[in-house]
Amino acid sequence: MTTPRRHYHITTFGCQMNKADSERMAGILEDMGFEWSEDPNQADVILYNTCTIRDNAEQKVYSYLGRQAKRKHEQPDLTLIVAGCVAQQEGEALLRRVPELDLVMGPQHANRLQDLLQQVFDGNQVVATEPIHIIEDITKPRRDSKVTAWVNVIYGCNERCTYCVVPNVRGVEQSRTPEAIRAEMEELGRQGYKEVTLLGQNIDAYGRDLPGVTPEGRHQHTLTDLLYYVHDVPGVERIRFATSHPRYFTERLIRACAELPKVCEHFHIPFQSGDNEVLKRMARGYTHEKYRRIINTIRKYMPDAAISADAIVGFPGETEEQFENTLKLVKDIGFDQLNTAAYSPRPGTPAAVWDNQLSEEVKSDRLQRLNHLVATIAAERSQRYMGRTEEVLVEDQNPKDKTQVMGRTRTNRLTFFTGDINELKGKLVKVRISEVRAFSLMGEPVEVREVVSV
Ligand code: SAH
Ligand code: SF4
Ligand code: F3S
Repeated sequence: MTTPRRHYHITTFGCQMNKADSERMAGILEDMGFEWSEDPNQADVILYNTCTIRDNAEQKVYSYLGRQAKRKHEQPDLTLIVAGCVAQQEGEALLRRVPELDLVMGPQHANRLQDLLQQVFDGNQVVATEPIHIIEDITKPRRDSKVTAWVNVIYGCNERCTYCVVPNVRGVEQSRTPEAIRAEMEELGRQGYKEVTLLGQNIDAYGRDLPGVTPEGRHQHTLTDLLYYVHDVPGVERIRFATSHPRYFTERLIRACAELPKVCEHFHIPFQSGDNEVLKRMARGYTHEKYRRIINTIRKYMPDAAISADAIVGFPGETEEQFENTLKLVKDIGFDQLNTAAYSPRPGTPAAVWDNQLSEEVKSDRLQRLNHLVATIAAERSQRYMGRTEEVLVEDQNPKDKTQVMGRTRTNRLTFFTGDINELKGKLVKVRISEVRAFSLMGEPVEVREVVSV
């Protein structure tokens, strides 16, 4: 019996890469005639786009999935899909754990969703996790925002940080061509998008797998070259990129960012640890001295640049003294924001089987101490905005106060001010900052910039 399946719901876990994949998969489902349902319990197709970076991310997926698997017993035509990084990691094993599943698909297969669903509707249970060459996206993504958009530039990661599952689940690096990236950005510009974030797990690796070498012997297509190539796309007023790896962050890239007016003065460069011995065991390939030099160079060219990063506490064998080196780095650099996490052993990664694991108590104690320091330092960093006039790109209404709108400064600080979203959405507004908090700002609008696209 084939009842028409009409509504879909996607729940997305994890990083921006997953969010971008979800938007493309939603686009495919809408092209197939499905409509979005806000309530998962009203949907006939349920897709979980999953993350396995830490154990708690993975466990969350199983608890969501358990509930929908039960529902399937009353509604057999419900289609249940697990996509993303847990799907890639577990593969067939997921079917043994949750036999109600119809489709298990790794991140490299996101653009093949229609094809895979067709096999499901033909009556098969499908597992698609073999490594493939990612096919160029031909669908229209259903973007969650009308103002800011993500554009993938490189998939996968060739690093082998000893704690990390990403290379196992996302495969080897695959760069899109500069032409494909620019074409997507031009379309976004035409549709009225004002900000684009270029995405990659290790975005500095962009172009290494594309053919072409310059007379000086460097790769013809680097992230720096890409920025020059796309910065004048009409309509796009701001360009960001993430995530950067300290090992490959060059002065040439920093100069390009300083020179190109649309590239925003915010850099997300995870350092993971402030201790050289720990960095070595993480196989990160740089020292804390090198990290400090990068930040100094950024600040030499762009004194007001915002710096954010990721850090892990409680890596196997980390001593109190080594942890304090992380605290010291955080203090010395003065981060605007820092994503912190307690180390979580992941299947298939070298560090997970080392015998010098730390206790949960030590890890959570260190996490708390680091978070406390981060909040203090972020509040100090926010102070510099007081009384200044900042350009804010308005993204949305403040969900907690409908008389206000919210957006971001070029340096990525969330900013709220009184205004009507219908008038201001997608506008660049000069805002005088009158109140500062650790991770956000408040102010009054002084001028709305009319953007004339050429
Ligand atoms: N490609 C980026 C980060 C990818 S994962 C980079 O190289 O920096 C996002 C963040 O999750 C990492 O920066 C790291 O801080 C954290 N992370 C990754 N594996 C982890 C693990 N096993 N336990 C705890 N945190 C982890
Ligand atoms: Fe993971 Fe390291 Fe690759 Fe980042 S660079 S995704 S931390 S392996
Ligand atoms: Fe998670 Fe996969 Fe991103 S493991 S952090 S969703 S690459």
